[in-house]
Amino acid sequence: MVTGTDLSAVFPLGSRVNERGRLEVGGCDTLELACEFGTPAYVVAEDDLHARARAFMQAGRDAGHDDFQVVFASKAFPCTAVLSLFADEGLWCDVASGGELYLALQAGFRPERIVVHGNAKSEAELRMALRHRVGAIVVDNFDEIDRLERLVAEGELADRGEGQPLLVRVTPDVKGETHEKISTGQANSKFGFGMGEAQEAIARLREVAGLTLSGVHAHIGSQLLGLEPFRREAAELAKLGEFAVWDLGGGLGVQYTEDQPAPPSIEEYVTALIDAAHANGIGAETRLLIEPGRALCANAGVTLYTVESVKQNVSRWVAVDGGMSDNMRPMLYGATYEAHVADRLEGTSECVLAGKHCESGDVILRDALLADPKPGDVIVTPATGAYGYAMGNNYNGVPRAPVIFCKDGDARVVVRRERYEDLTARDVR
Ligand code: LLP
Repeated sequence: MVTGTDLSAVFPLGSRVNERGRLEVGGCDTLELACEFGTPAYVVAEDDLHARARAFMQAGRDAGHDDFQVVFASKAFPCTAVLSLFADEGLWCDVASGGELYLALQAGFRPERIVVHGNAKSEAELRMALRHRVGAIVVDNFDEIDRLERLVAEGELADRGEGQPLLVRVTPDVKGETHEKISTGQANSKFGFGMGEAQEAIARLREVAGLTLSGVHAHIGSQLLGLEPFRREAAELAKLGEFAVWDLGGGLGVQYTEDQPAPPSIEEYVTALIDAAHANGIGAETRLLIEPGRALCANAGVTLYTVESVKQNVSRWVAVDGGMSDNMRPMLYGATYEAHVADRLEGTSECVLAGKHCESGDVILRDALLADPKPGDVIVTPATGAYGYAMGNNYNGVPRAPVIFCKDGDARVVVRRERYEDLTARDVR
């Protein structure tokens, strides 16, 4: 993939600094976007999403696995416009709740292309999955098996001949290097069956009429920057037997700042997974699924803010009109971003980029280097396309930010900004 001229791979593909010295995303001048749509705002380069979806699928073809399906982990950017775009590209969709299943269906994913996850699926969520007869329910625990047996016996399954396809989720005891809050493959994880119990689950599920055990699943963690854990994961899964479907989960990391080491490319990652699968006896005739979330959308998006105040004490505090309501990642995982003034990208003034929320932890970036920021300046933080909107909230009654799609110089709102009335919309008086 070719990245935009002048700018690092952290920015959406095709981004550039235009003749006026302003950041342009999807051909749109970010200062004009801020003026037209207000801030904070999530700005997404549509072409970037298309390009990454195609890169994943092409990599699968190039690596010689015909039935290779790219399942977008919708939790990364659960917005119908993003989901529809990926549905149109031919991707599948991973959902982790009834709400995400609803969104995926609304966005146009055919049920047979939806994979349903969850370590605590409710009866209602399982009913919904069965009634739509989704592509796969990924079974997490023995209580869920009991519940599925009962629901199928009660006739909940959509009647289309075959049974409901299932995958068994396994924790293969493979730990990738990442933040502990997003590591999932270790033995003591809340997700899935241990390797020992997995065989019992598989055996039980093979006996239930109306249920079709088609394969196994693992997801070892998120924001992983090395390929070795993925190879070990494939090797561990392969020990479980022979199956028609293998789901290796998601987890490919992305670059959040220019000085972070570049992650493996989409091509390197997909090739490594497919080669590892084949090397461990997972044949080219099987169906191989992967579930990228972050790697499909993080770098496609930037957030625009406006500076509200600048003050100096021990540090220089630059406060903007968003913060932990639109991006929880710095506060939850100590995630690092970069920040720039949108029309003066090169900066040398050391600042703390703070949000507007009423707590000291609301800091977007502790060591920002900004070009003499002043109130009214537009600030851009790149690489916010994954898990920003997804974890957005109304803390301090701050309305959630809109999502703006940009392409070839045209911008359109795909999710409007929340209004104050939305804050009382669920009140029962
Ligand atoms: N599949 C499963 C079963 C998952 O649990 C996840 C992520 C994915 C796929 C997608 O992983 P990705 O390719 O995006 O790494 N809020 C955190 C990330 C939590 C990820 C949870 N599961 C963050 O902002 O870093």
